[in-house]
Amino acid sequence: MNKTFFIFILSISSLSFAKDIDGKTVYLTNCTACHGSLGDGRGPAAASIANPKPRNFLQESLKYGESKDQIFKTITNGVPNTAMPPWSALSEEERKAVAGYIFDLVEKRKKSDSNVASGKEH
Ligand code: HEC
Repeated sequence: MNKTFFIFILSISSLSFAKDIDGKTVYLTNCTACHGSLGDGRGPAAASIANPKPRNFLQESLKYGESKDQIFKTITNGVPNTAMPPWSALSEEERKAVAGYIFDLVEKRKKSDSNVASGKEH
């Protein structure tokens, strides 16, 4: 293989690696203290937070919308007068990535909700 071409390929792949922000990593770094590592709302700080409690993404629906855009806005602005802070310290890319991660949890919850709804009792 041509050496210049090989170096070219190498530099492209390291570039895209640097830009690849993983929503789960952003979540595990910033959100687990309250929302828990599984997203069940039972992080170590949750016990000392009065109502409203951190959202349990596995079981509860979102008050401020469940689309990716709405979740992104909630993360960006926080929820005033609650323990949920605005995440202006995170870059837009990081907020988008973590919004995608929460969105996936919401979609999983909806699927398991409909499994329950269409269970054997009906
Ligand atoms: C200091 C505790 C705390 C941390 C850290 C925290 N949250 Fe929250 N979060 C809360 C609380 C409390 C609520 C519930 C607010 C309510 O019910 O109005 C909440 C609610 C939410 C909601 C749902 C709002 C709705 O529509 O129902 C989302 C989405 C959310 N948090 C995302 C995140 C993300 C993403 C992170 C990390 C970047 C994060 N939170 C970090 C405390 C926290």
